[in-house]
Amino acid sequence: MTAQLIDGNALSRELRAQVAQRSTALKERGVTPGLAVIQVGENPASQVYVRNKVKACADAGLHSVLEHYPADLSEAALLERIAALNADASIHGILVQLPVPAHIDAQKVIAAIAPAKDVDGFHVVSAGALMTGMPGFLPCTPYGCMKMLESIGYELRGKHAVVIGRSNIVGKPMALLLLQKNATVTVCHSATRDLKAFTLQADVIVAAVGKRNVLTADMVKPGAVVLDVGMNRNDEGKLCGDVDFAGVKDVAGFITPVPGGVGPMTITMLLVNTLEAAERAASLK
Ligand code: GUN
Repeated sequence: MTAQLIDGNALSRELRAQVAQRSTALKERGVTPGLAVIQVGENPASQVYVRNKVKACADAGLHSVLEHYPADLSEAALLERIAALNADASIHGILVQLPVPAHIDAQKVIAAIAPAKDVDGFHVVSAGALMTGMPGFLPCTPYGCMKMLESIGYELRGKHAVVIGRSNIVGKPMALLLLQKNATVTVCHSATRDLKAFTLQADVIVAAVGKRNVLTADMVKPGAVVLDVGMNRNDEGKLCGDVDFAGVKDVAGFITPVPGGVGPMTITMLLVNTLEAAERAASLK
């Protein structure tokens, strides 16, 4: 192994301790930061994510409520719940775990969340703010990736960053954040011809596709920084990312592991956003 590990658990511990401190300070001013997490249906992966989010809140001294509804909850009923949470002063962040069942329009649900409580950063107001460089909530996974780059003191200016994946949740906002830091950014996706030709030029690679072995050692420039956003299972049922870690670790300069890399950072940035939402609400009081 030549690459240095970027440890998402260690960085998360540091950042979550800061959240806990700020949360204590806010409570002394009479405001307890509160997050509402809504899950609709029984998606097993969602179950795990939601449980981890609620536990992370408790550990950092944030109040959270988990609302778990059956898969046949109507869209109208969900929108009604969101409206009630928008008006609830004890709740500063609202998160609807995706995916939602097919009969519910996810875009409509996200649009119903008050932008001031959009701690997932998925609302068009948040996306537009990121696009135009205005203040707003950043989506947690790309935000966490930027914190990981910051933690190794990486200077992005003038570097070539290649993002593999173009989702609204990771790929697109990731590209915008890298651009904001003056990197030259290439976004590759399922229709990209000759992915390797792009990744071999990259100083930074963010793999966010949701497929194993999208990035192998022969596709990486020696010394490159590799961030693995993937959450997959291998043939033995073990958690793995989009990157062939065993091979790439011998070529890259820095690499994030799965598990223990980007995953915990996503939850950490959700706590940061929730705290930020509560601090903004408190200063408006
Ligand atoms: N599903 C997969 N990732 C996420 C996320 O970051 N937030 C929400 N709400 N749903 C997700």
